[in-house]
Amino acid sequence: MSVIILAIESSCDDTSAAVLKDGVVLSNVTAGQKVHQDYGGVVPEVASRAHQKNIVPTVAQALKQAKVHRTDLSAIAFTRGPGLIGSLHVGVCFAKGMALSLGIPMIEVHHLRAHVLAHFAEDPKPSFPFLCLTVSGGHTQIVQVNDPYNLVVLGSTIDDAAGEAFDKTGKLLGLDYPAGPLVDKLAQSGEPKYQFTEPKIDGLDFSFSGLKTSILYFLKKQLQENPDFVKENINHICRSVQDRIVSILLNKLELAALETGIKAVAIAGGVSANSGLRKSFAEKGSKLGWETYIPAFQYCTDNAGMIAVAGYFKYLKADFVGQEVIATPRLK
Ligand code: KG4
Ligand code: ZN
Repeated sequence: MSVIILAIESSCDDTSAAVLKDGVVLSNVTAGQKVHQDYGGVVPEVASRAHQKNIVPTVAQALKQAKVHRTDLSAIAFTRGPGLIGSLHVGVCFAKGMALSLGIPMIEVHHLRAHVLAHFAEDPKPSFPFLCLTVSGGHTQIVQVNDPYNLVVLGSTIDDAAGEAFDKTGKLLGLDYPAGPLVDKLAQSGEPKYQFTEPKIDGLDFSFSGLKTSILYFLKKQLQENPDFVKENINHICRSVQDRIVSILLNKLELAALETGIKAVAIAGGVSANSGLRKSFAEKGSKLGWETYIPAFQYCTDNAGMIAVAGYFKYLKADFVGQEVIATPRLK
């Protein structure tokens, strides 16, 4: 008999639902929340209210697209954490209610594991072990993936995440939230004219807060000399900042590959949608003889397809949770 999983993701500001049948994603529907743009960042209370409004139509759409009736479902997977408590709560409670009414098991999923396992949504799938650089708005990590159940964190950011570095730079430049995609777009017609120093952090950990400060001081100085500096040079500034963020990420990834001897290397998370990172990653990979893996765009940013894939691995081990499960914003 087929295994059909409905997955729900609501850890931050995207409400997403997906349906997966025997390991194949049939639908992956995401409702974004534009309302946060007015505030320059995600407002947790506003996010949870929007999830409440979006979750029923998003799940209905995912089932409809997949041509699956809810009574055909084998299990419901959901993001337990990490994330915003109110946002997670909406997804967790919805999953609990639906699983209870249908009499089917529930599968809790760790959001960051799901970003890594998103590589199994489509072919080509990485071989084990592989390294995965997960870069999102809240996290930056290098993970060694020994198998779908055995993930070891080799390095993490000690302050800001890579996505935050993009978003905070964008804010300094007067761009809307989330600025990452806008910085990416502007950088495409810019030159890397300005040099921002690379932080000296030992081992495989990352730091981005110093970069943000150096951009702030750089802009202050330039704006004193020319009040139109940002307007006239925004493409070059975006390109210079993007190149530096990319080099910080890829230099650490190269070190991880060297230290572990692993040649299958992947990137994941919202920032892996960045065109500069994708290009440089592919170039570095071919220079160093890596097998490189980049998920399709729809599996890079927050989406329930990746929750479904991670959930399916757990389904195969009958790793279910009961109704006592709660949203866990700081899930380890
Ligand atoms: O994984 P994700 O959707 O949500 C979190 O779990 O955080 O990542 C969102 C982050 C935001 O910081 C956003 O600005 C960044 O990913 N992002 C990008 C791009 N697309 C999304 N950053 C740079 N370039 C992009 N094209
Ligand atoms: Zn994410």
